[in-house]
Amino acid sequence: MGKKIFSGVQPTGNLHLGNYLGAIKNFVELNNDNENKCVFCVVDLHAITVKQDPKELRNNIRETVATFIASGIDPKKSIIFNQSQVTAHSEAAWILSCVARMGWLNRMTQFKEKAGKDKEKASIGLYSYPVLMAADILLYDSTHVPVGDDQKQHLELCRDIAQKFNNDYKIDNFFKIPEPLIQKEFSRIMSLKDGLKKMSKSELSDLSRINLTDEKDQIIMKIKKAKTDALPMPSNIDDLKERPEAKNLIGIYSSITGLSLEKSIHNFSGENFSKFKENLAEVLVEKLTPISLEIRKLLNEKNYLDQILSDGCKKAHEIASQKVKKIHEIVGF
Ligand code: TYM
Repeated sequence: MGKKIFSGVQPTGNLHLGNYLGAIKNFVELNNDNENKCVFCVVDLHAITVKQDPKELRNNIRETVATFIASGIDPKKSIIFNQSQVTAHSEAAWILSCVARMGWLNRMTQFKEKAGKDKEKASIGLYSYPVLMAADILLYDSTHVPVGDDQKQHLELCRDIAQKFNNDYKIDNFFKIPEPLIQKEFSRIMSLKDGLKKMSKSELSDLSRINLTDEKDQIIMKIKKAKTDALPMPSNIDDLKERPEAKNLIGIYSSITGLSLEKSIHNFSGENFSKFKENLAEVLVEKLTPISLEIRKLLNEKNYLDQILSDGCKKAHEIASQKVKKIHEIVGF
């Protein structure tokens, strides 16, 4: 049986290797299976939960679409659209925010991390962001949601909201309870500068991440400068404990090449890091430069990208507006 896939990516610039290995690479695989119905959303409403420059946001929306296509998602097979253009998302988010409980949202670790010490000054949108994410998913009766590990808690919340709505209004199965698709390994790619911190768009140092638009020389330089430890390369998986940087770099190597972690470790066992880093840079360049070239090419084809979004919006609107109509009836509007 085919799956109904939904996932989203924020158009906040600097899409990086973590986004690719944790999410987009899996979108491509799911999209290649003709049995599946896939919806991939550029979540611009989520982006404005922190301040965005309008001109940059507009560019970043196109760049996110370009990244999807350059990575191998086929717009003929999948619906690609931006969230703000399908008003059902905002409507459903409001209704679901009346179902979600403060206590549930108060537990969200990503809000705590993003809001930092000064949470009084965080936007209300940043706080209620997971409710909008639940709306995104539930409007399409999605069965599976491919995401990186950092979104796991938000998906659990989505399931709770769906369940509570179904219970409160006594309609079994109205909202489908979606399953997260999180890879067992490599679902959390870490910073190149600190193996305990997630690779992130918002990290100040560009050396902490490989951007999907980086050129060959940048990739080589960033891997050369990536933090390691003083020991030789590990010889078995147990050796990776307490060695977060080594674990992350070998994980990246494994994920890019498709080799198992054991095999990757075996290939470099006991060597020094410099030889491994040369190999890692090589496989990254081989995989990522065609993508970055294609992104740059597509960014010059604005009309093509806009057409993909407007076609996608029409299709998404058809599905989502029907669901909102039913929600209205159920709620009593
Ligand atoms: P966003 O834009 O922060 O990230 C997009 C996807 O990339 C994954 N990711 C990572 N995976 C592995 N290692 C990393 N270092 C790393 N950094 C990011 C994220 O887990 C995500 O899958 N709230 C979501 C977007 C969203 C969404 C949705 C996702 C909105 N609505 C509905 C799924 C379904 C977000 O901010 O992702």
